[in-house]
Amino acid sequence: MCGIVGYVGSQSASDRPLDVVLEGLRRLEYRGYDSAGVALVGPQGPLAVAKKAGKLANLVEELDLHPLPPSTAAIGHTRWATHGGPTDVNAHPHVAGKLAVIHNGIVENFAGLKADLEADGVRFTSETDTEVAAQLIARAYESTGDLTAAMTAVARTLQGTFTLLAVHQDAPDVVVGARHDSPLVVGLGEGENFLGSDVAAFISHTRDALELGQDQVVTITPDSVSVTDFDGRPAEPRRYTVDWDAAAAEKGGFASFMDKEIHDQPQAVADTLLGRTDARGRLVLDEIRIDESVLRSVDKIVVIACGTSAYAGHVAKYAIEHWCRIPVEVELSHEFRYRDPVVNERTLVVAISQSGETMDTLMAARHAREQGSKVLALVNAHGSTIPRESDAVLYTHAGPEIAVASTKAFLAQITAAYLLGLYLAQLRGNKFADEVGTILSELRDMPDKIQQVLDRADRVRATARSMVDTQSVLFLGRHVGYPVAMEGALKLKELAYIHAEGFAAGELKHGPIALIEEGQAVFVVVPSPQGRDSLHSKVVSNIQEIRARGARTLVIAEDGDTEVLAYADEVFFVPRAPTLLAPLLTVVPLQVFACELATAKGLDVDQPRNLAKSVTVE
Ligand code: F6R
Repeated sequence: MCGIVGYVGSQSASDRPLDVVLEGLRRLEYRGYDSAGVALVGPQGPLAVAKKAGKLANLVEELDLHPLPPSTAAIGHTRWATHGGPTDVNAHPHVAGKLAVIHNGIVENFAGLKADLEADGVRFTSETDTEVAAQLIARAYESTGDLTAAMTAVARTLQGTFTLLAVHQDAPDVVVGARHDSPLVVGLGEGENFLGSDVAAFISHTRDALELGQDQVVTITPDSVSVTDFDGRPAEPRRYTVDWDAAAAEKGGFASFMDKEIHDQPQAVADTLLGRTDARGRLVLDEIRIDESVLRSVDKIVVIACGTSAYAGHVAKYAIEHWCRIPVEVELSHEFRYRDPVVNERTLVVAISQSGETMDTLMAARHAREQGSKVLALVNAHGSTIPRESDAVLYTHAGPEIAVASTKAFLAQITAAYLLGLYLAQLRGNKFADEVGTILSELRDMPDKIQQVLDRADRVRATARSMVDTQSVLFLGRHVGYPVAMEGALKLKELAYIHAEGFAAGELKHGPIALIEEGQAVFVVVPSPQGRDSLHSKVVSNIQEIRARGARTLVIAEDGDTEVLAYADEVFFVPRAPTLLAPLLTVVPLQVFACELATAKGLDVDQPRNLAKSVTVE
């Protein structure tokens, strides 16, 4: 996610605001970004802005070539592209007249607001949603002459998630921020104050902090901090002392990036759902620039992907086939290309990739296009190669994933794949078209449910710690629980270096059951008892079969499923959810288990041995 820093200091202009902001941006680099920028204001001279695509070093080079004047207040931003690619123009800050704004999050209703402003004669230079916010705040400032009032008024009109910071040339001793569903913290100094998307932004200057609550606006000057809600009523944010060291601060206080990213998952799913429906609740996937008539005539979908992304593809298969009645094949990218696959202009090839750089998937996508198929990239990293070389892209909004093993990107991929399936169902007007709204609202409940799974994860962690000497763990699932089982096994292999295999539970008697002996640990992903006929009872029978042969059964089941209790050594309950959406919940305990077990073994969960975050060779 984007990094945000704000600073205001003493009345006499100096280089300190710029230095503080650049240092804060350096400390926020861990969040990942694809452009960076700063805006400065001072008592003399106009608003000064510098921004550059790429790494912070590019911005620093630009500042060396074209130095900015001394200032009293500054804002700085590292951007992870969402609306509009990673270019100089789309980089933040965005300027409207004498005002500059930086933003973390997604303004969901930006298209309508932008159209209104354009109709009023406003010309936009970037493709971002942020520039819309900048224009709105600048206009509000013109009528009120008060930056706090302007920010408050605009914050009320924006939908989506946002942290916004603004500076104005005419108010050189003020930085104003607002937050809605996106973090913002205040650092309290002596004769200076700070803002940051997290405390890493200012930890080298102060450990005295305020955590803003939801829907609050903050105004900092060198000597004051005032906070109100979006209606302008005074608010009391929580004051605390930061006791993390700088390294822990980067990880939000978690022991590893992986642990942090597991906990980021409710947000990753919520953000991936944001901004994708119109006022009538219909899905609008504007990014899918493939002609609707082409999408209507698709007679087969082939998902190409590797590793975890391929398991997201397997979940997509169950959902899309059910909702759209289009056959879906899932193929490992490296196998697809070399086996002369039968694809043509009526095949939609969906390339799923977190990094957008996986060479196997890129090559497979090129091959598919050569056969006349349309390729839709379902990717997390903006500006990466696979979307550039595809016919269309549907971005996941998981934010940068730093740990090598994928977690939050996986949940975001599954979410985006659901959106694709529902969109196709809506477009093709088949029998699920009328249920799109209901399923979307069930999907919107999932972030809260994922949070509940995380809140209950202590038992999973305790179980993991008790299993540090385990040599082998098996994972079983049926239907959408099958890819979850495979993903659980992959996480354990790559993080804890333990032999692990995921099976379709129905396949057990066709061979794998021979592996079951006294004490063999087996995770079983149990489908909802309210779900499809007999799926639940079949899996319960599988648990009985392995238990009878001595397996230690670790069961993931839905709240209220008392039937499994008789056959499980351990049960980890997850909230109720429709069968097709359940993977967003059932995989979470498996991620936590692998992370905790590897940590208990003293391993580096962020950088497992022999692995790279993006595999750019075949
Ligand atoms: C596993 C993992 C890998 C990736 C795979 C594809 O935790 O991260 O299996 O999923 O290398 O990478 P992307 O999604 O970047 O194409």
